[in-house]
Amino acid sequence: MVYVTRKEHFTAAHRLHNPDKNPEWNQATFGPCNHHNWHGHNYVIEVTVAGQPDPETGYVVDLGKLKKVIEDRILSKCDHRNLNLDVDFLEGVIPSAENLAKFFFHEMEDDVMAICKTGSLHSVKVFETERNIAEYRE
Ligand code: NI
Repeated sequence: MVYVTRKEHFTAAHRLHNPDKNPEWNQATFGPCNHHNWHGHNYVIEVTVAGQPDPETGYVVDLGKLKKVIEDRILSKCDHRNLNLDVDFLEGVIPSAENLAKFFFHEMEDDVMAICKTGSLHSVKVFETERNIAEYRE
């Protein structure tokens, strides 16, 4: 299997908060990410496709097409937005790096399948900071 990755970045606001829990629980659980007036992160995402190189092109996936899928599905909806309020596919979701990786994966899965003759979406990694990273794979 060959793994091909496209890296992108976006900037967004969020707040980690569980409305079913009291303020003390939220503060103790989420710390500064629970701040009521939001805060921002410079997110980096890595989208990896796995497959065999197509004999006609040598590519597992056309990275230009993968870039467009990421732009259409993720960046156009998340960049310079509030992840709690502005993103249709994150409605009701606590926007942790873990959940972002999972929901980004499902948001792109079908489009990646459509541009990829010999492979499929393998994983989505979300870097919330340089040191805090979540990865989703099926
Ligand atoms: Ni945060």
